[in-house]
Amino acid sequence: MLEANELHAIIGASSGTGNASKILVTGGTGSLGSLVVDRLQAKGCNVQILSHSKRPGTVQGDLLTGEGLEKAVEGIDVIIHCASSPTNPRQVDVEGTKRLLHAAEQAGVAHFVFISIVGVDRNRSYPYYAMKLEVEQMIEQAAIPWTILRATQFHEFVLTLIQFLDRLPIMLMPKGFLIQPIEASEVADRLVELALSTPAERVTDIGGPKVWTAADLARTYFNTIGQKRRVVEIPLPGKVAQAFRTGVHLCPEQKYGKVRWDEFLNQRFNKNLTDKDKH
Ligand SMILES: NC(=O)c1ccc[n+]([C@@H]2O[C@H](COP(=O)([O-])OP(=O)(O)OC[C@H]3O[C@@H](n4cnc5c(N)ncnc54)[C@H](OP(=O)(O)O)[C@@H]3O)[C@@H](O)[C@H]2O)c1
Repeated sequence: MLEANELHAIIGASSGTGNASKILVTGGTGSLGSLVVDRLQAKGCNVQILSHSKRPGTVQGDLLTGEGLEKAVEGIDVIIHCASSPTNPRQVDVEGTKRLLHAAEQAGVAHFVFISIVGVDRNRSYPYYAMKLEVEQMIEQAAIPWTILRATQFHEFVLTLIQFLDRLPIMLMPKGFLIQPIEASEVADRLVELALSTPAERVTDIGGPKVWTAADLARTYFNTIGQKRRVVEIPLPGKVAQAFRTGVHLCPEQKYGKVRWDEFLNQRFNKNLTDKDKH
């Protein structure tokens, strides 16, 4: 198994194309992970995908039970950890990462890369964020050199939420919630860049090019698909909602993403942007 400095030597020698290190992507079947896998494969990397759903072309491993993890990390130099289960984060994200880290330490993995969310330390009343923070802290304390990248919400995720709410008789959006959505492919680019470099610990957060209100995101969606629908903003009580209004989950100084929400929608729904639309 490679030490971190040996890994760096190999990566340095690879000049971005082809890579001797063996990389395991957890969540490599998911929205972000599959884009990470595509990019690694395009660079000629030796990449394996961990999946608990018995999908073809993947290595079987279940973070929930630990089954298959030891075998999955055998001979692995770098792990890019994108797996998550928002419906069972205690068992899959927290306990699952503990199991994965243990197996990775035993196998001598040289670099553990984790994708987290901007502001997980600033909205701890939100259980999923509190658990992502717990996972970050576990990684920081483990014996494996690590890199953690925090990103804002992905366009696809925001679209799924809006389409879900669109099924209700009235289109309700939380009043004043701010979102700085980013294209998942841009997050994947950055994750791959980090995974093919030496461990960097906490790196600068990344977000999309513009901060929107949730209601404006929905209005832009309806506008793009040519549907007239009134968006009703409702004030939500509580600390978690207050945090989403004050924008603790944003990084307006780090507009890493280039693709705006309206551009993503136009591309997604095959519309051409005119120069006038862009302003
Ligand atoms: N979505 C966002 O807006 C956003 C923003 C910032 C950061 N993030 C973070 O980015 C990461 C990826 O998000 P995503 O939206 O791409 O997720 P996703 O599409 O929901 O994918 C989740 C992945 O987790 C894997 N998984 C679930 N349960 C598992 C288990 N028991 N054992 C092994 N693998 C399991 C699934 O693979 P199988 O079913 O094949 O096993 C799937 O590939 C997450 O950590 C998330 O917190 C997301």
